[in-house]
Amino acid sequence: MKDEFPGKKTRAMLERGIPLFLNGLRYEEQLQKAARRGFRSAWQIVVDRAEGDFIWDLDGRRYIDFQNGWATNPVGNAHPEIVAAVHEAHQRYGFHYDHPLRYELAEKLLAVMPDSSLTRFSYEVSGTEAAEAAVYLALTHKERRHVIAFSSAYHGMSIATKVLSGLGGQFSRYLEAWQGGVIRAPYPYSDDLPAGLSQEQYVDYCLWYLDNHIPNSVVARDNIAAVLIEPGLAEGGNWIPPENFLKGVRELCDRNDWLLIADEVLTGLGRTGRMWGVEHYDVAPDILVIGKNLSGGVEPCAGIAARDEILGDNDAFGSGSTFAGTPAGCAAGIKTLELYERLDLVANAARLGGIAAGIMNSWEQYGIVRQVRSNGLLMGVSFCKPDGDTEARDWWYARAVRSRMLANGVWAISDREDTIRLYPALNMDEAVLREGLGIMEEAIRYVDQHGQTEGDSPAWPTGVAGF
Ligand SMILES: Cc1ncc(COP(=O)(O)O)c(C=O)c1O
Repeated sequence: MKDEFPGKKTRAMLERGIPLFLNGLRYEEQLQKAARRGFRSAWQIVVDRAEGDFIWDLDGRRYIDFQNGWATNPVGNAHPEIVAAVHEAHQRYGFHYDHPLRYELAEKLLAVMPDSSLTRFSYEVSGTEAAEAAVYLALTHKERRHVIAFSSAYHGMSIATKVLSGLGGQFSRYLEAWQGGVIRAPYPYSDDLPAGLSQEQYVDYCLWYLDNHIPNSVVARDNIAAVLIEPGLAEGGNWIPPENFLKGVRELCDRNDWLLIADEVLTGLGRTGRMWGVEHYDVAPDILVIGKNLSGGVEPCAGIAARDEILGDNDAFGSGSTFAGTPAGCAAGIKTLELYERLDLVANAARLGGIAAGIMNSWEQYGIVRQVRSNGLLMGVSFCKPDGDTEARDWWYARAVRSRMLANGVWAISDREDTIRLYPALNMDEAVLREGLGIMEEAIRYVDQHGQTEGDSPAWPTGVAGF
C-alpha cells in the first residue's frame, strides 16, 4: 500500500490544483524538493467521503480521522441529524438575517455558559471574526486602545487576528507594523524554559511580565482593555497552561481593571473534557469566543458571549457580517447542543481523553518524542532529534511520523510546528481511538529506529493548513 501512496486519483487531483491554487504550486514545489533529496513525495490526500470516525480519499482508502475537520466535528463527520437539521433550515428559510433559530440557539448557549454572568450573545461566521469582535468589544467597552495577547497564540487568518496571534516569523510577515495596540506577552510553555527556570518560576515570570513589565515599560495600566488568552494554545503547539497561570491572569485582570477574553474556538464545547477549557482552572472570562464545534462540523456558526454590562450597553460596538447567524448555522448549533446533552459528550470526551493519556504518556520513552501535551481530547506530541540533541525542536520528525501514520490509515495534523496534534470527535468509538493511537505509536517507533527519511515529507510553508 505504501508504495502506491498516495493513489493515482488522489495524485491526479493534487496535480489539477497546480495551475489553480497557491497551495497547488507549493505542492509541486514540495514534490520537486522531495525528489531532489531522494525522498518520497509529500504525502497528502483529498477527501472523497466523510462519515463518523472516518474519511476516505479519492482512491477509496479509509483513514481514522484525528484531524476532524480541524477540530470542528464534535460528533464525527457529517452526523446525519445535524445534516438533516441544516437541510431543513435551508429549505425553510434560505438565508435571512432574522429568524427564530437565532433566538433558540442563544437560549441553548445560555444554558452551557461557563459562568452565569455571560448572558448576551453576538453571532459571527467564523472563529476569526468572533475573536476580532471580542477584542473590539473590549476596546470599545473600556474605551482603551491596547490588548495583551500571547506568544504562540492563534486567533485566525484575518489581518487583525494575524496581528493578535503570536506565531511570528512568516505568519504575519509584512504586518509587523500593524501590531498597533497589541502587546505581546510570553506564554508559560512547559519546554525550553529560559535561563534554566523551573516551570513554577517561569509561570511567576509570565505573571510578573503582565503585571509589572507591561504597565511599567510598555503601556499605561489604564490604557489596557483586556487580556486575550486561549486556555490551551492549540494551533501554536498544544501547550497546556499550568493551573496557577490562568488563575493568576484572572486575578491580575480583576486588580488592574482589565477584561479577560477567553478564546475557546478550539478548546471550547467539550474538547478538553470539560464544556469549556477555562473550567479546568476555575476561571470565568468576561468575554467568551465560540466557534468550531458549534457548527456540528456541518455548517459555520460562531460568536461571542459577554456580560450584560459589556455587550448590552455599548453604542460604539458593531460586528457581524452578512452571513453571521444564518438559519442553517443556527440549526447546526441547536442540534449539536442537543446532541451534547443526549450523548453526554463532554463526559465521554473526558473518558476518552483519560484512555488516550494512559496510552500516550508512555511515548516519552522514545528518543524522538519530546513531550506529550494533552488535556482531554486536545492531544499533541512534540518531537526532537533522537540522539537527545534537543538544542532545537525538530519538525522533520513530526512530519515523518505523521506521513507514516497517513500511509497506514490515520489522519492527524502536523503543520507549522514540531508537533503532531490529534483532535478526534468527542464520541469517537473507543476501539477506533485505540487503533489510531496504535498506528501512531508504530509510526513513532519506526521513525525512532529508522530516522526520518523513510516517511519523509518536506516542510510546508508557514500557514499552509491541511497537510
Ligand atoms: C483559538 C482559535 N481562535 C480562532 C480561530 C479561527 O477560527 P476560524 O478558523 O473558524 O476562523 C482558531 C482556528 O483554529 C482557533 O484555534
